[in-house]
Amino acid sequence: MNALPALKIGHLKIDPPFILGGMGVRSSDHQLASAVAECGMAGTIASVGLVRSRCKGQAYVDESNAGLIEEIRKSRELSNGVIGVNIMVALTNYDELVKTAISEKVDYIISGAGLPLGLPALAKDSGVYLIPIVSSARTAEILCKRWWNRDKCLPDAIVVEGALAGGHLGYSLDEVAGWGEGSLEAICAGVIAVARRYEQETGKHIPVIAAGGIFDGSDIARLFKVGVEGVQMATRFLATHECSLPDNCKQIILDSTKDDMIIIKSPVGLPGRAVRNDLVEKVMRGEKQPIFCPYHCLRTCNPSEALFCIAAALVGAHDGDDKNGLIMAGYNAYRINKIVSVRELVDELVEETLTALRGEESCCAAKR
Ligand SMILES: Cc1cc2nc3c(=O)[nH]c(=O)nc-3n(C[C@H](O)[C@H](O)[C@H](O)COP(=O)(O)O)c2cc1C
Repeated sequence: MNALPALKIGHLKIDPPFILGGMGVRSSDHQLASAVAECGMAGTIASVGLVRSRCKGQAYVDESNAGLIEEIRKSRELSNGVIGVNIMVALTNYDELVKTAISEKVDYIISGAGLPLGLPALAKDSGVYLIPIVSSARTAEILCKRWWNRDKCLPDAIVVEGALAGGHLGYSLDEVAGWGEGSLEAICAGVIAVARRYEQETGKHIPVIAAGGIFDGSDIARLFKVGVEGVQMATRFLATHECSLPDNCKQIILDSTKDDMIIIKSPVGLPGRAVRNDLVEKVMRGEKQPIFCPYHCLRTCNPSEALFCIAAALVGAHDGDDKNGLIMAGYNAYRINKIVSVRELVDELVEETLTALRGEESCCAAKR
């Protein structure tokens, strides 16, 4: 094998078949999204937290839309590659962000942190590919059934995000604790079976994309073997020169150990994974931080009960506060030990994946 098969989503050709996972706040901005798109990957801009001031009401909605438009346009100036947007279902301005992404003609919308059951009603027939994130074959089935029965629409691809991912996790704390080797492969196989069944019924092919804890080419090769057609990766791209997370926060990742990968109860209402720092320690001790909530950005957050404001904490990290900012990252972040360019990382991942797949081929040939 000399090259990896491209990931095809409708008319999009993503080659190598890797998608940059959306990383709010501003970690996957125009700079990182365009850099990966220039390498042939799909570049996802995170739509959360793009306001410039502490505004409220309609001003928050308008500023979020303006921020997203700016990010999309800047990324288009830097790359003619594939550019999409990640929009979390839990956001109170979800509908407005979806409409903005469509009016800016992004290539795709990836939507998770909740099941995007209402996405077709907003975006069907817009020409933008719709890619939900699921955590199990059961949620894939619920979603496909609802989209098909209600809107005669099916996902253009499905991302399966496992419990080793960064950011928020679609699993209970027990499920996260019980996660083991092979769990992601097993869930992907189940989701592929659902996708194949809908393909047989409707003729529409739904590529399945794996995400969560994918670190190197051997991980990618293992997932391709199960039948996924692409992978979505985020944490590895935090440690690139092009990622705008400040250097001191990147250094916390480089210095981290396995024990520093902490699951916290996020105000989003889901478990979230972050790297240990002062804020994470305080949250682990159950210490409530002062919250100033000018705009209720998350449907699922109750500011009077939340231990901290996740929007302020993520903005804090982006502004360089490595103590009280929240540095979210996937389980394998502790294995990262250097900052590289996006091009170096992508080339390395492709080479490693090809090597792992060739190893499989020669191993099978030897057995024959
Ligand atoms: C810093 C960070 C921020 C993230 N923000 C979002 C987000 O805004 N929306 C979302 O759906 N997923 C978010 N994620 C999840 C990623 O998009 C991705 O699917 C996941 O992290 C993949 O696992 P990996 O980081 O181990 O590669 C975030 C992940 C990280 C590391």
